[in-house]
Amino acid sequence: MTKRMQSRVVLAAAIAIAMAGSSAVSFAQSGEAIYKANCQSCHGATGTPSAGMAKLLGVKPAAEYKTGAAEEFNSVKNGKNKMKPFAGKLSDAEIKAAIEYFRTLK
Ligand code: HEC
Repeated sequence: MTKRMQSRVVLAAAIAIAMAGSSAVSFAQSGEAIYKANCQSCHGATGTPSAGMAKLLGVKPAAEYKTGAAEEFNSVKNGKNKMKPFAGKLSDAEIKAAIEYFRTLK
C-alpha cells in the first residue's frame, strides 16, 4: 500500500466514524444545515423563493407544496421538472431531514 492510499483509507475511516457519531439528537439541526447547503439556493432561506428563482425555475413558496410526504420525498430524490435529483448526492435520511426542515418554513 502506498502512502497516498494509506492516507485515503485513514480519511475514509475518519469520515465513517464522524458519520456514525452524528446521532438523532441533532436531527432537526442537521435538516436545517442540509437545507441551507442544498436547497436554499432555489427555495430561499424562508421557504419562499426569490422572484428570479420563481420565474426561472417555477419554484413556489413551501406552503404551496402539498403533495404529501411520500411524493415529496420521491420528487427530491428523483427530481421533478427543474429540481434535479438528489439521489447519490444525499442519503435517504438526509433528504427526509431536509424536507422536514422545509416543511417548518412558511
Ligand atoms: C435547482 C433548484 C432546486 C433545488 C436546489 C432544490 N429544489 Fe426543490 N423544487 C425545485 C422546483 C423547481 C420545484 C417545483 C417542481 C414542480 O412541481 O415543477 C421543487 C419542488 C420541491 C418540493 C415539492 C415536490 C412535490 O412533489 O410537490 C419539495 C418538497 C422540495 N422541492 C424540496 C427540496 C429540498 C428538500 C431540496 C434540497 C435537498 C430542494 N428542494 C432543492 C427546485 C429546487
